[in-house]
Amino acid sequence: MRLVFLGPPGAGKGTQARMVSEKLGLPQISTGDILREAVRRQTELGAKAKAYMDAGELVPDGVMLSLVDARLAEADCHRGFVLDGYPRTLPQARALDEVLSRAKQRIDGVVLIDVADDEVVRRLSRRRVCPQCKGLYNLDADPPKVEGVCDQCGVELITRTDDSEGTIRNRLEVYRNETLPLVEYYQAKGILAGVPSEGGIQKVFPVIMEKISRLRQG
Ligand code: AP5
Repeated sequence: MRLVFLGPPGAGKGTQARMVSEKLGLPQISTGDILREAVRRQTELGAKAKAYMDAGELVPDGVMLSLVDARLAEADCHRGFVLDGYPRTLPQARALDEVLSRAKQRIDGVVLIDVADDEVVRRLSRRRVCPQCKGLYNLDADPPKVEGVCDQCGVELITRTDDSEGTIRNRLEVYRNETLPLVEYYQAKGILAGVPSEGGIQKVFPVIMEKISRLRQG
């Protein structure tokens, strides 16, 4: 199954995409994680992406298309994948459809997680991430067992550089301008399933799984 997770920053795309990918045994492809790892390793891609990411702007489509094409061509994606944070512009969505159709494949479902702006700011200012396993935490909703330390790796948790209030507000604006048109794009294809991100992480997950199983039934 080929799934896309769509939604504003802080909606819970990464949190839920990870849970769904584990449940379905499919790789989670987070473009944000791939880019942050490239920045951390100071690669050519990282150098191209860093300034955009720090400002809460999108990395140019040309960079993203070749990055995602190469990742989707890897062997673990042949049975399907869970895309988290991609596509997020119309050119990216069209290019993804083209690449898949060349392989006689298509996106089976798009999960749109929605959340109010003030909740986004609240969540992201309380988010902590593991730089090693990319594990996600929230000091309110999902804290680590030991303060400041990843449950899985024992590594010190960090705050993302784009999780300051000013950058979060800009990311929300960019989402509205660049990514929101994808809602109509996927609605027209009849593969969009909306899920409100309310009631905590564990309550949202079964709602998403239910929507995915309906999409599976066609
Ligand atoms: P990316 O990493 O994709 O960031 P984003 O889309 O802004 O989304 P976030 O990762 O901030 O939030 P999320 O929805 O995954 O929420 P999470 O699960 O972490 O992209 C970063 C940057 O990379 C972009 O700004 C851009 O520069 C670049 N980029 C990436 N992809 C690109 C692309 N395709 N094209 C161009 N540029 C691209 O949850 C947030 C917090 O809330 C956590 O603390 C979590 O524990 C908590 N939480 C989750 N669910 C709940 C819940 N139900 N209740 C309470 N708390 C919750």
